[in-house]
Amino acid sequence: MDSRIFKCAFFSALLILTAISCQDNPFTQGERLYDHLCANCHMDTGEGLQNLIPPLAGSEFVRDNVSGAACIIRYGTSDTITVAGRVFQQPMAGNPDLTEFEIANLVNYIRHAWGNEYGFVKLDEIKAGLEACRPASE
Ligand code: HEC
Repeated sequence: MDSRIFKCAFFSALLILTAISCQDNPFTQGERLYDHLCANCHMDTGEGLQNLIPPLAGSEFVRDNVSGAACIIRYGTSDTITVAGRVFQQPMAGNPDLTEFEIANLVNYIRHAWGNEYGFVKLDEIKAGLEACRPASE
């Protein structure tokens, strides 16, 4: 085989392999942040903890409320929330130092982990959601 064609084929194959391995887990940063910031309460499995911490796995809140999830992650909440037919009232602290990009990665991770298949959310949607819940003092 002509060595130029061979090199070309070799590098194309490498490129395709790299692309495939990147697609393997598109939510790496979100997963890392989750393990670090969220798993101690919501658990590695996303199932939460009894009547204290609501589940994220199978949560209709995570499915239906993109801006709500982004806002809770940044600002925390002390509302009463019903998830999977159970009422939760413990407060959750916010994470004011996370960037919009990190919050988008977290939201996309929890929308796709543990069997959740809630669809990809764009950064613009997260930005708009955060803007809408930004306290007047900021
Ligand atoms: C100290 C424990 C704790 C940590 C850490 C924590 N949460 Fe929560 N989270 C809660 C509690 C308690 C609630 C329920 C709040 C309420 O009832 O108002 C909640 C509610 C939620 C909800 C909405 C309800 C649901 O189950 O869908 C989402 C989404 C959420 N948390 C995501 C996260 C993410 C993402 C992180 C990490 C950045 C995180 N939480 C870190 C305790 C925690």
